[in-house]
This record gives sequence, structure tokens and C-alpha cells, in this order.
Amino acid sequence: MCRPAHFTVNYSINPWMDPLVPTSTETGLAQWKRLHDVLAELGHDIELIPPDPGLPDMVFTANGAVVVDGKVLVARFRHPQRSGESEAYAQWFRARGWTEVRQATRINEGEGDFLLAGELLLAGSGFRSEPAAVAEAGEFLGRPVLGLTLVDPRFYHLDTALAVLDDEQIMYYPGAFSRQSRTALAERFPDAILATEQDAAVFGLNAVSDGRHVVLAQATRRLPGQLRERGFEPIGVDLSELLKAGGGVKCCTLELRPAEPPPTQRAG
Ligand code: ARG
Repeated sequence: MCRPAHFTVNYSINPWMDPLVPTSTETGLAQWKRLHDVLAELGHDIELIPPDPGLPDMVFTANGAVVVDGKVLVARFRHPQRSGESEAYAQWFRARGWTEVRQATRINEGEGDFLLAGELLLAGSGFRSEPAAVAEAGEFLGRPVLGLTLVDPRFYHLDTALAVLDDEQIMYYPGAFSRQSRTALAERFPDAILATEQDAAVFGLNAVSDGRHVVLAQATRRLPGQLRERGFEPIGVDLSELLKAGGGVKCCTLELRPAEPPPTQRAG
């Protein structure tokens, strides 16, 4: 995670961002702190990357990379306003001893567009990551990929329209996807939770799940009940200030998946 110490909206690269709407760094920080504490209480081991005064969107660490089996595919941002973040993430990972660190050659906005569901890498494109990034990510990370096309500009990253709940289950808003992608999702995940447009529009799908607890936007109406029906425990948090930049719960987190040690080293 990254403290939003310099949080502001002074440019617009998605429909949520309006530099004329006032933002409060203090409110952003307080809401972020609450999210941080909720995740820490759930037992997540949280590491922090230092914020940069010139990079107000750096709070959205999901976009920095995608990390699978110890392999770090560092983002290449579409917009120049965020491109400086790539180097910050590459350096952070190297300094912390991650050895397989590579910057994407294609436009790739990290876990904003690449979500791991069990073995399968779900890969979104249409607004930010390029379609060619899908194959590059699958190859480098060594995972099968399901490419999905986003069509609604409000849901410009995959993680704004779809959340992975556990290895098998997802929730998503069908209206965010092309017809072909909707068919592919329905085939692969026939039991998925389908979110209403209203819940999607408060970034209810921009959620973090540990397989049981699902941390999501407090303003969601139907999703908490839909989650409870499946045995999940929804936990609402208010990130309304960060939503002015087009970000929510998931955007503020990047999952670090180290390589599994070989079985012989695991014992003891
Ligand atoms: N203002 C940021 C941008 O437009 C928000 C990023 C949200 N991150 C995410 N993972 N959806 O790039």
C-alpha cells in the first residue's frame, strides 16, 4: 500500500476525475488509514512504498505491477501523468530482494487489469492495458490467460468491474464487458455473483477478498447480502474521497505473491 500523503486530483485521466471538484488530502488519508487498519486486523502483512509528491495517483498501488510466483511484471502506464511510477515500483521491488523484476514492454496497468483467479489470469483491456499486454503477461507469469474487453469508460480497469473472491468464485458487473467477454465469463464462471449497476457505480466491485472476508465500498446496497448468501463476510469501508480519483479498496492494494519454496525446504 502507499499512504496518500500527496493525494489530490490535478489532472483527469478517467471519467471520475474532475480537477475542479475540491479534494481533501486529510480526508483521503483518514479513509485510507481505516482501510489499512481493517486489512491489518484481518491478518494481512502490509508493506508500504513511499509516496512521491509528484505522483498523486501513487496511492493506487494495484497499478504498479502484477506479482505471481515471485515474478514481478512492473507496469507501463498509458498516461504520462503516471509513467514515473514504474521506476518507483521497479526500484522498490529490487531493493526488497525480488530478483525476477521486469518492466512490461506493452502498456500494462498491473493488477488494475490483471487479476489471478486460481490458476487463471483474468486480463482486462479496452481502456488502459493494451490487448498485446495480455499475451506478454501470460507468458512472463507462466499462467493461462482469459482476455476480457472493457467497454464502459466508468469501469476503465478490470478491477473496477470484477473481483476475485476465491480460487473459484468471482463477482462482476456484466454491463462493463463486451458481449463476447460476457459470454466467456458466463461459461467459465457460471455461478458468479452479478452486481447491479448501482453497486458497480460506487466501486463495490473494487474489493479485496481473502476467501472469506470481502472488504468493499460501504455504499453498496445489494452486494453485502449477495456475499453473505455465499458464506462470505462483507466488510464495508468508506473511500469516497479516493473515488474522486476513480479508485477504491482494491486499487489501494497490490498483492505480493512470492514463489512457493520447493517442497524439501518447506518442512520444519
Ligand atoms: N486516478 C487513477 C487512474 O486513473 C485511478 C487508478 C485506479 N486504480 C485501479 N486499480 N483501478 O489511473
